[in-house]
Amino acid sequence: MLKALLISLSESRWLRTLAERSSLGQHISGRFVAGTQVEDALRVTQTLNHAGLSVSIDNLGENVSTADEARHSAQLYCQLLSEISARGLNANISVKLTHMGLDVDPRLAYDNVCALIQQAAASQPKNFVRVDMEGSAYTQRTLDLVRELHRAPENRGCVGAVIQSYMRRAEADIAQLLREGIRIRLCKGAYKEPAGIAYQAKSEVDSNYIRLMKVLLKSGIYHGLATHDESIIREAQSFATREKILPEAFEFQMLYGIRRDLQQSLAGEGWRMRVYVPFGAGWYPYLMRRLAERPANVSGFYRFLCWTMVADHARREGTRESNRTARIKGQIGGQRRLVLGLAAL
Ligand code: FDA
Repeated sequence: MLKALLISLSESRWLRTLAERSSLGQHISGRFVAGTQVEDALRVTQTLNHAGLSVSIDNLGENVSTADEARHSAQLYCQLLSEISARGLNANISVKLTHMGLDVDPRLAYDNVCALIQQAAASQPKNFVRVDMEGSAYTQRTLDLVRELHRAPENRGCVGAVIQSYMRRAEADIAQLLREGIRIRLCKGAYKEPAGIAYQAKSEVDSNYIRLMKVLLKSGIYHGLATHDESIIREAQSFATREKILPEAFEFQMLYGIRRDLQQSLAGEGWRMRVYVPFGAGWYPYLMRRLAERPANVSGFYRFLCWTMVADHARREGTRESNRTARIKGQIGGQRRLVLGLAAL
C-alpha cells in the first residue's frame, strides 16, 4: 500500500519541483545520490574504484519533453565517457531512453544513444552503455531499440539491456536477447505494474529472479546480477561455484548508498562488484523509488527532514536584517510545503 503510494508520488510533477528546488531536499537525497555535478559523480567513482568496486554512472533524469533537453542530456553523457577515459576510471554509463528523448521522437533517442555507444566502442579500452529499463509502457520499445543498436557490428558488445524479474515476459525476453549475444542486467523491477503483466508477490518475483539468474550464468555471456538481496546473492555464488562458472564471468551490481557493507565484502571475497552511481539535479523520482523499495526508509527520512528544518529555522531566527528575513521566510515556506507534501505520505 505504502509502496504503491510512494511509486505514484514519484510521478508527481508538483512534489518533484518542490523537492528538487529545496536545498534541504538536495541534502537529504545525498544518501542515494552522488551529487548534482559531473565532478561529483567522478569523485565518487574514483573513491569506489580505489575500494575495488567498479561503477556505472547514471545522470538522473527521465521523460524529457523537448529535443533540446534530450540532446543536452546526451551531451552530458558524452562528457562523462570522455572523462572516464581520460581519468582511467573503471566505470561505464547507464542511460534511460526517455532521458534521451524517446517520448519526443524515437529516432532522436536512437541517434543519441547510438552516438554514445560509438564513443564507448572507440574508447581505449572499449567502454559500455547500459540502457536502463523503465515502466512497462517502454519495455518493448526499449528492447527493440537495444537490439537494433546491438545489430550494428561496430556496436556489438558495447550496449546492454535490463530485464526485470517481476515481468511475466522476462524469460522470453531473456531468451531472445541471449540468442543475439546481448549482455543483460537482471533486476527485480522498480515500477508499479499490473498483475496481468507482472508478478505481485515478492516470493514470485524472487523465485523468477533465481530461475533467470541461473539461465544468465550458464549462458557464457558476461551479465550483471543487480540486487541487494543477500540470500539471492549467496544462491548465485553457490550456483556459480557448483557449475564451475568463474567469478570473472559475471558481476554483482548494487545501488550507491545501499548495503555498502555487502558491496565491500563481496569485492573483498573476490567477486566482481559494480556500484550504480546516480548524480544530477533530477533526483526526486529516483529517490522516491528507493523509498518505495524499503518503506522503512520513510520514517527515518521524515524524522531527519523535520529535525533539519527545525535546526535550520533556529539558526535563521538569529538574524535581524529584514531583507534576509523576507528571503528566509520564503525558504522556510518552501521547506514547510515540502514537509507538508511528505507528511501526506
Ligand atoms: P529487495 O527489494 O527484495 O531487497 C532486498 C534487501 O536489499 C532488503 O531487505 C534491504 O536490505 C536491501 N534494500 C533493497 N532496496 C533498498 C533500499 N531502497 N534502501 C535500503 N535497503 C534496500 N529497476 C528497474 O526497474 N530498472 C532498472 O534499470 C534498474 N536498474 C538497477 C540497477 C542496479 C545496479 C540495481 C541494484 C537495481 C536496479 N533497479 C532497476 C532496481 C531494482 O529493480 C529493485 O527495485 C531494487 O534493486 C530493490 O530490489 P532488490 O533486488 O535489492 O531486492
